[in-house]
Amino acid sequence: MIGVFDSGFGGLTVMKEILKILPEHDYMYLGDQAHVPYGPRSKETIKRFCKKNIQFLFDRGAQIIIIACNSATTAALPYLQKEYPDKHILGVVIPAAEKALESSRSGVIGVVGTSATIRSLVYNKEIIKAANKLYNKEDKKYCDKIKIFSNACPLLVPLTEERWHKKPETKMIMRKYLRRLKDAHIDTLILGCTHYPILEREFKRVMGRNCRIINASREQALALKRYILEHPDIGLSKNSSRVFYTTDCKDKFIELGSIFLGQPINNAKKVEI
Ligand code: DGL
Repeated sequence: MIGVFDSGFGGLTVMKEILKILPEHDYMYLGDQAHVPYGPRSKETIKRFCKKNIQFLFDRGAQIIIIACNSATTAALPYLQKEYPDKHILGVVIPAAEKALESSRSGVIGVVGTSATIRSLVYNKEIIKAANKLYNKEDKKYCDKIKIFSNACPLLVPLTEERWHKKPETKMIMRKYLRRLKDAHIDTLILGCTHYPILEREFKRVMGRNCRIINASREQALALKRYILEHPDIGLSKNSSRVFYTTDCKDKFIELGSIFLGQPINNAKKVEI
């Protein structure tokens, strides 16, 4: 059983990508809607929420846990891996950071996400780490060329949840948020928030043809596939079952969740954790 959690609906964009490439496995998804959004909260608060989420999923038999939330990954991944040293816990940042580095020709990379994600600088650190890993000392010149520009885009979470993604007001806000990154001539942009894949087409339009867009949700799904292949010993069950849990309103979860997942969610259980 694979456990996936997020602060609410956003992680369903990760689930959507996972189900495209690994449909045969069993999944449990927990949306902590009662505490959404995590993005504006402090690291300590996010860590506390994550600990409860993860314990909930382990108690129900999760063999691998996917933190399908950028804010949660940047605030809590090392802490959770330390708390559960024998467990398999995967975050969303490293696969996207590595892909961005691979995609960028100029080394000038942009990152957008929530305030918690951008403030943490975790994407910046992981891009630099990946560059040092990928290039040996002779290529140090390339590592020195890497420049990272990031910007928090907090309004995009409520706008996508209100289904305003096609509205001109949203495009105007996006153009404002992305202005500095465009001016910096980034050639690669990481969508470091689970809600932003809903706006992927709009991001492409605003950034133009010369900028590659990295969808962190898609990269996380691909990383999970690699991880499963490298760890056959986990012995994951394969009955194509899906169970959805939410910590708040079940009907809203089913309605909005189906849009984020790109397929109907037939049932969800409300839980207190
Ligand atoms: N899932 C969050 C993320 O990827 C966005 C929503 C929130 O702020 O909780 O950062």
